[in-house]
Amino acid sequence: MYKNPKAFFEPLAIGAPNPLTEIPAIPMRMIHFFDPSNERMIDKMKDIIPTVDVLLGNLEDAVASDKKIAAREGLINIANANDFKETMLWTRINSLDSPWFLDDIISLTESIGNKLDVIMLPKVNGPWDIHFLDQLLSQLEAKYLIKKPLMIHAILETAIGVSNVENIATASPRMQGISLGPADLAASRRMKTTRVGGGHPGYLVRNDPIQDNPKAERSTAQQDLWHYTISRMVDACSIAGIYPFYGPFGDISDSVACEDQFRNAFLMGCVGAWSIHPSQIAIAKKVFSPPVEEVEFAKKIISEMGDGSGVAMIDGKMQDDATFKQAQVMLKTAKLIARRDEELAKLYKL
Ligand code: GLV
Ligand code: MG
Repeated sequence: MYKNPKAFFEPLAIGAPNPLTEIPAIPMRMIHFFDPSNERMIDKMKDIIPTVDVLLGNLEDAVASDKKIAAREGLINIANANDFKETMLWTRINSLDSPWFLDDIISLTESIGNKLDVIMLPKVNGPWDIHFLDQLLSQLEAKYLIKKPLMIHAILETAIGVSNVENIATASPRMQGISLGPADLAASRRMKTTRVGGGHPGYLVRNDPIQDNPKAERSTAQQDLWHYTISRMVDACSIAGIYPFYGPFGDISDSVACEDQFRNAFLMGCVGAWSIHPSQIAIAKKVFSPPVEEVEFAKKIISEMGDGSGVAMIDGKMQDDATFKQAQVMLKTAKLIARRDEELAKLYKL
């Protein structure tokens, strides 16, 4: 027998806070990664916090083994030294099979458990990983008197994780969202790439030869390596009432391709992406804020469709209940962002 559904929303340890019945809808256009072991970063954080929706102290990959403890302590210092106001504070801890996981989770909950919003867990293979962290967090919340439940964000970056994505998304009321981790996923799947996300010139389709001129140049178009995984992740997150994200784009110098990759994810349903360099903050902000003309059009559909039933023609385009619902998604997203971003609120006239 599976767990009694009623038990899903009971705390897993005596004294732990009640699980959330809904994951807060907050703008999360960019999850900005920083390395808390880097002392120069610590001074910069004060200025970066108000410019991002989510600030994430990274303890996992990209932090060298001999810097792991410095990173953990740096994050605790930064969390204690700053007022984050509207900006969410997340961390990416080390994976469950690493020697650092246990101390990461114990020291962070003990020292900053009431300041952290979300714990990102890398290399999630299946719901069993989430169940383990869920139970452990409940014990730690009870022990350290944490008032609101810490949420869990999984990185989708192993082949087995992709095959279990729906069960990961629905494994616990703590599940807040999932990010695509294209670099680890490529390695796990034995893809023949050496990149962090984005396209590849070799992954393409080619037009057929021209009949009368078989030697003529045949045009090609690059295809999207990540389409399948993002689609599955978006569907799994929608089913679970949680949020999907594109992860890292590693070629910092290629802002054009980064913007394209982010926009593909936005159009497919993702709410944000990681910024792993300050230059990617503006790209994520631009891409994951609905375009002004789309918001205008959404308002028009909603005002002309009344209760959404029937059919209407607006600017030559057919509208019905389904476009009415799409318009509501667009307007709801814009309203959330407008609450946080005065400039956009003016442009959206919200
Ligand atoms: C992120 O962690 C990735 O592996 O792409
Ligand atoms: Mg990874």
